[in-house]
Amino acid sequence: MKVEFYRHNIGEVEKERVVKALDSIFLTTGDIVYEFEQKLAQYLQVERSVALMSCTAALHLSLLALDIGPGDEVITTPMTFIATANSILHAGATPVFVDVEPETGNLDVNRVEAAITEKTKAIMPVHLYGHMCDMLALRTLANKYNLKIIEDAAHCLEGIRDGFHPGQLGDAACFSFYATKSITCGEGGAVGVNSSDMAEKLRKLALHGMSRSAADRYHGQYKHWDMELLGWKYNLNNIQAAMLTPQLELANDRLAQREKICQKYEAAFKEVEGIDFPKVLAGTKSARHLFTIWVDPQLRDQFMSEIASRGVSVAVNYRAVHLLSYYKETYNFEPGRFPEAERIGNSTITLPLYNRLTDEEVDYVIATVKSVVSKNYSGVS
Ligand SMILES: Cc1ncc(COP(=O)(O)O)c(C=O)c1O
Repeated sequence: MKVEFYRHNIGEVEKERVVKALDSIFLTTGDIVYEFEQKLAQYLQVERSVALMSCTAALHLSLLALDIGPGDEVITTPMTFIATANSILHAGATPVFVDVEPETGNLDVNRVEAAITEKTKAIMPVHLYGHMCDMLALRTLANKYNLKIIEDAAHCLEGIRDGFHPGQLGDAACFSFYATKSITCGEGGAVGVNSSDMAEKLRKLALHGMSRSAADRYHGQYKHWDMELLGWKYNLNNIQAAMLTPQLELANDRLAQREKICQKYEAAFKEVEGIDFPKVLAGTKSARHLFTIWVDPQLRDQFMSEIASRGVSVAVNYRAVHLLSYYKETYNFEPGRFPEAERIGNSTITLPLYNRLTDEEVDYVIATVKSVVSKNYSGVS
């Protein structure tokens, strides 16, 4: 059997909407994007959302919109995809890593305060695998030191903690619609915010700092536009948004299906010697974006190749960012600096998790992983 790492959910409805968008006169950012933005803001229960071409763009522009740049420090986690820390560098600021909680892999709020200096301007937590960070505690800390919070919610569109969605306690929450995300248009992103001023600034920054978008210029008589600040070119287009809206409408139903798959994985791996996995903490509804297991770091790569050779595609999310060559060499990081992130980075294996997984495939993944890992502990070859 071959089990793919991911298969998207694009179906007939999305295809019809894309064809409709292609048949219209307006292909770039316009009404279809605005409709998606409204629905996304409603879904998240935030005031506004701005759709962009990636989560990386969303993180970058959120920093710029909050006036964070050269000379500023932003506290973040080393247990993430490089986009998080890279976006801080793109803004000209400095990422300051803080180690993660052992149970979830999320930024450890208890260690954040010690990393705050007079240069700290913001905290960028990552809701790893769909499990939200402790946003109530982070907000309290941020208020105490007058810091902004930019949530990397690339994994966490559907997540909730203590009754709050991403974007409700942060100054901005950034989402990804990249090819393997729970809703996707190939490449895409968005920011959720609770301030209209911030939304307008983000929109402007996403379009070279122009005072009018193409849609504004198209409707009605021509009016001159101005460039009010230096922006980038990060807008999402109508064709992409056409695909996203129908998927957003099904997001909660699809999360419920993934939750069942995760519970099956957890029940199956709970008693297996040599397998552990991140916990979902009380008060949290995980978006269940990725399911990872933790195995002996000495055996991780061997397990991965054995699992793959039996037809199950697996991945690593993530090796700790501070030990990747660029960060290691630029900032002289040595192994041992962030032990929890390193432990996870060296022991983690991500298993297939998506709505199109069949029961047979889930059973096959479980049987394969169990047999590969158990073989090692029972001494059977
Ligand atoms: C945690 C995290 N942050 C940011 C990103 C960047 O998203 P995008 O590819 O939409 O720029 C990703 C992408 O996978 C991610 O996993």
